[in-house]
Amino acid sequence: MESILSGQEISFSERFRDPVKKTRYILRNGILRSLIHKYTTTPPKNIEFCRTKFGKPFLKNHTPSGLIRFNVSYSNDRLLLVFSREYFVGIDIEYKKREFPVIDIANRFFTSTEANLIKVGNETAQTDLFFRIWVLKEAYTKAVGKGLFLPLNSFDVPIDLLALRNNASGREHVLLGHINHEWFFYDIPVNPEYCGCLVLNSPSAIIRTFDLNSLDMLKD
Ligand SMILES: CC(C)(COP(=O)(O)OP(=O)(O)OC[C@H]1O[C@@H](n2cnc3c(N)ncnc32)[C@H](O)[C@@H]1OP(=O)(O)O)[C@@H](O)C(=O)NCCC(=O)NCCS
Repeated sequence: MESILSGQEISFSERFRDPVKKTRYILRNGILRSLIHKYTTTPPKNIEFCRTKFGKPFLKNHTPSGLIRFNVSYSNDRLLLVFSREYFVGIDIEYKKREFPVIDIANRFFTSTEANLIKVGNETAQTDLFFRIWVLKEAYTKAVGKGLFLPLNSFDVPIDLLALRNNASGREHVLLGHINHEWFFYDIPVNPEYCGCLVLNSPSAIIRTFDLNSLDMLKD
């Protein structure tokens, strides 16, 4: 993967002291380049990225196969990527850290409705719901492109507890709700230790999920 990174990415990777973090950085950028190559045919090393003023990366050049939008999220040892030809997309994954001060953080960063929802239930339920709400909020800020420049307590996410409960068995991309009929929230089951959410501007997008471990796309 290192061989397909840009000079700037290689220099950045050399700043990591922790070899695990360095490897993860190289892998996620290499995987991103490999997958964009598969969608666009641009050689991975020639792919050029730009960022908006809020930091959202996008492809510098239109490719012969048209526009590809993407978004990336990583947490612990997991990576979640989304690609779309049609929609604006934002994605988020979080490892559900145990013994995390979820009530304090919810009081600071969530709306009062969301923070109050979290206070119901035992410690495990509180942690679980906290991270579920967190990924919805971050995926939304990433879909609209503002990231954390959009204060997390400036909007309520559609936390449909019933839909989440129905998805407990891990069915793929259940629609959780929307904001203003404009942004639609999909639960993306990853594994029980993580929460994942995808936000995009369509209620009827066809979403296909792939596990990188079983993906031929990375092989040439
Ligand atoms: C974007 C942001 C929400 C990411 O949250 P996170 O959970 O820490 O990280 P994730 O793994 O989910 O996502 C990281 C990726 O999001 C993407 N990203 C960065 N800014 C983005 C934005 N404005 N919109 C959408 N995606 C963005 C990048 O691909 C980034 O990967 P990189 O680190 O390789 O550049 C957050 O870091 C952010 O807004 N940062 C910029 C603003 C900031 O730092 N504010 C601090 C003071 S409020």
